[in-house]
Amino acid sequence: MSGSGAVTGGGKDIVGEILDRYGRQKGMLIPMMQDLQKERGYLPREDLVDLAERLGVPLSQVYHVATFYASFSLAPRGRHNITLCVGTVCYLKGAGAIADAIRKEFEVQPGGTSPDHMFTFSPVNCVGACALAPVMVVDDKYYGGMTVETALKTLRDIAAGTPADNKAAG
Ligand code: FES
Repeated sequence: MSGSGAVTGGGKDIVGEILDRYGRQKGMLIPMMQDLQKERGYLPREDLVDLAERLGVPLSQVYHVATFYASFSLAPRGRHNITLCVGTVCYLKGAGAIADAIRKEFEVQPGGTSPDHMFTFSPVNCVGACALAPVMVVDDKYYGGMTVETALKTLRDIAAGTPADNKAAG
């Protein structure tokens, strides 16, 4: 299984291009994986296997890096990231109901991505803006004082304003 390696998605040998970009140096594994994630939107398993083989590093090492850094994702991500605070302050002000509503409306599980690839949903434990509770962060933008209604409206508006695009690989 060495040689040209897996070629997926549009027939481009993305792994090969990335390997060349960094002179196939093992010490450049992390930037290579960052580039891969940028191009694919996440780290597909077949690409990680391919990268490990062609770079000559153990797959376990590649997975260690992929799981150690929060910025890497092993599953396809949505076009928008919803980070909902369910920390104590936000929870007491209704974040639980907001989380339930998001799950139902967009058919997305915590840590997962909606079937239409619009949203990846991450409940977290305090985003450090408790004065704004309950807080939802979408793509780095903070929305404070959320209710079920305003949170859903905000997300529906974002989805409606997102032009049609190729779906993530999968
Ligand atoms: S508990 Fe939600 S921002 Fe702190």
